[in-house]
Formats: sequence, structure tokens, C-alpha cells
Amino acid sequence: MSAGADAGSGAVAAEWSRQGSPAKDGFVPSVLGTREHWDAVYERELQAFQEYGDTGEIWFGEESMKRLVRWMHKHKIPLDASVLDIGTGNGVFLVELAKFGFSNITGIDYSPSAIQLSGSIIEKEGLSNIKLEVEDFLNLSTKLSGFHICIDKGTFDAISLNPDNAVEKRRQYVKSLSRVLEVKGFFLITSCNWTKEELLNEFSEGFELFEELPTPTFSFGGRSGNSVASLVFQKT
Ligand SMILES: C[S@@+](CC[C@H](N)C(=O)[O-])C[C@H]1O[C@@H](n2cnc3c(N)ncnc32)[C@H](O)[C@@H]1O
Repeated sequence: MSAGADAGSGAVAAEWSRQGSPAKDGFVPSVLGTREHWDAVYERELQAFQEYGDTGEIWFGEESMKRLVRWMHKHKIPLDASVLDIGTGNGVFLVELAKFGFSNITGIDYSPSAIQLSGSIIEKEGLSNIKLEVEDFLNLSTKLSGFHICIDKGTFDAISLNPDNAVEKRRQYVKSLSRVLEVKGFFLITSCNWTKEELLNEFSEGFELFEELPTPTFSFGGRSGNSVASLVFQKT
């Protein structure tokens, strides 16, 4: 799975997707699960943005953003619904939401460089009403709560690769999600590391599957499947 496209390939793909055999309860730990890695990524991307105006990677590609916005439109999510983008990275999805008309959006990321980059991109786009916070989702410091919609595009994947007790970190993720999302609120997750069945298992407590969003399929060697899972859960 590539960072840049739903069904792509490439150097990042080999590193990013399931690395060899999964460990007993998760994946082989990787630098991709560490804050140091993301700090370095977004420091580089910030510099590229400042020098060349390059906004950097759109994880899972443009279509992954459009898919989520289409779902929100189809389900008549009000434009003033509060939306939280968990691990917003360069914040490009926030820009997409704001351009669509959503007016109550917040992006968090534990990398200060990511938040700085998001702020610069948002400013360049001339958008002003997007909230940004440096926040570790596993250790929330502020009173973030009551969101109608939470979005995750690749963040749970990254957390699942953390070399330091990823199982516990995944549990903490579910706790934080329960804390910030209101009852009946929706959680939209896009993942290349977890299958639909695995995600159903990870989010079995306090969440139920609302809808599975169609993602591109691949076929290889007589087998076919999806390289990306995109699911909508509702908090019970
Ligand atoms: C694969 S990138 C995806 C970025 C963005 N969601 C996108 O779709 O372009 C994973 C992001 O999660 C962030 N992240 C990882 N662990 C986090 C945590 N515990 N709290 C907040 N952000 C985290 C990283 O800094 C990075 O921006």
C-alpha cells in the first residue's frame, strides 16, 4: 500500500504495509510508529512547502478524501457538525472539508511540524476558521469532546506500528476515541494495515459498524481483495 494512492505501490509501500509476518497481536514494530519519524517527515515537508509550495503526501490519495466527503454529503451531515481529524498531518483533508462548506473543524497531530505545516497550507488557502492543536491522541491534554464526526486516515495504522507496546496504545486509542466522540457520533477510518474484520474486532467495544465504503480492489496471482479498508462506525 502506498502513501499516495489507494492501490499504489512504491518504496513507502514496502515499508508501510504489513511488514513480514504480523507479530502475535499486531504488526512488526516500525519506526513509522514513532513521533521522531513523523517529526522528521513533517520538518522536511514544511521546508518543501516553504521553498516550493509543495503540500506533500496525501495519504491514500485524493480519492480517499472525496470518498469521505461524499459519505458525509450523502448522509446529510450538517455543515456545522463538529469534525475532528485525528493525526491530520499536512491538514489537506481539513482544507477539503472547509472548501466543501464544513465550518466547525479541528485538526490535531502530535507532531508540531505537522501542525505548523497545516497552518501554513490553511493560511495560503485563505481559510481562517479551522482549529489546529498539537495533541497526542493517546494522551489528550485538553478538553476535546463532543465531536459529531471523527476521522482517521492512516493514524491508527501508524500507532499500530509503535515499537513500545502497540497493543496498549491501540487500547488507549479506543478509549480516547470514546472520550472525544459523542454518542451516535460517527468514526470514519481508512486503513491499509487492518482488514475490515480486524477493524471490527479492534472497535468492537462501544462502536458498531454503520457502513463499509467501497475501495479499489486488486487482483494478483488468482487472488483478489482490497488494499485499503474504509469503514464508518457509530458510537453506541
Ligand atoms: C500516515 S500519516 C496520515 C496523515 C493524515 N491523516 C493524512 O491522511 O494525510 C499519520 C499521522 O498520524 C500522526 N500521529 C501518529 N500518532 C499520533 C498520536 N498519538 N497523536 C496524534 N497524531 C498522531 C502522525 O504525526 C501523522 O501525521
